[in-house]
Amino acid sequence: MRKISWNDKLKIGVDVVDKAHARLFKIVGKLMEQMEYEPNYQNTCKESIRFLEDYTMGHFSEEEAYMRSIGYSGYEKHKRIHDKFRDVTLVSLKKRLEESDYAPEDVEHFSAVMAGWLTGHIMTEDQAIIGNIVAKRVYEDSLDTHIIASAFNQAMKDVFHLEAELVSGDYNGRNIRDCYYYHLCYDIKGGGNIQILLGLEEQLARRGVGMMLGLSAMQKPEMVGDASMKILEHFLHHLGKLFMSDSEYHLYKEERLTRDEFRKDFMTRCSCHLLFETRLGHFIFCVEKW
Ligand SMILES: [Fe+2]
Ligand SMILES: [Fe+2]
Repeated sequence: MRKISWNDKLKIGVDVVDKAHARLFKIVGKLMEQMEYEPNYQNTCKESIRFLEDYTMGHFSEEEAYMRSIGYSGYEKHKRIHDKFRDVTLVSLKKRLEESDYAPEDVEHFSAVMAGWLTGHIMTEDQAIIGNIVAKRVYEDSLDTHIIASAFNQAMKDVFHLEAELVSGDYNGRNIRDCYYYHLCYDIKGGGNIQILLGLEEQLARRGVGMMLGLSAMQKPEMVGDASMKILEHFLHHLGKLFMSDSEYHLYKEERLTRDEFRKDFMTRCSCHLLFETRLGHFIFCVEKW
């Protein structure tokens, strides 16, 4: 497996922050290599994961200090995202590692989730600190196909640097190539929820993740699926910001689906089914509000 590598698309333009992000990528890459090549990888991986955790916390503090120094208006929300990563995401990842005594598939899961989370977070929240992307409501909160398609294209450009063209506003499930399928559920403050189903063509996931994390960074389909899910969570959060304030909803469930589950849910739950095409592959986006 080739390790992940830093690329300039991830730069936000603040030297101290960019250097720390590049270092984080290096540490995750090293962890992947240790897992792959060292015979007694458990001990070295434990050490690297401890170091990665400390370095990440140090980076969060430094980035938060930078946000305060420029009087960034999104500081409180951004800090809450860092805190949630530390208190929820990292805790559950470490629990899984400890329960299996650092089984190879769990170290791979850890590395892929870290790489995906970092990429998604940098391309959305961190880029917003100095206004590289617009992270506020610019579209009407509506299920109108053209409004969703415009916001979707904007979010694809911001997160993946890809154009997404709407191929069908009423996708009927016709076959495209093999996909990763995801289901995400959000609570809306004040009642109701949003269900989102995503189908990401495998080649789009592989090449999209490869483009962000270094070419052929991950050849294992499971790792591509895990990393993509974390990037997509950030993508959806960013897309949500383009429609409404992000304090109005929160993610309470995320799962991978099989093709059959996706089709069953897709057929019964969602009224809006859109098919997009990018130069790297197709993307199915289904949404329903209750
Ligand atoms: Fe951040
Ligand atoms: Fe950061």
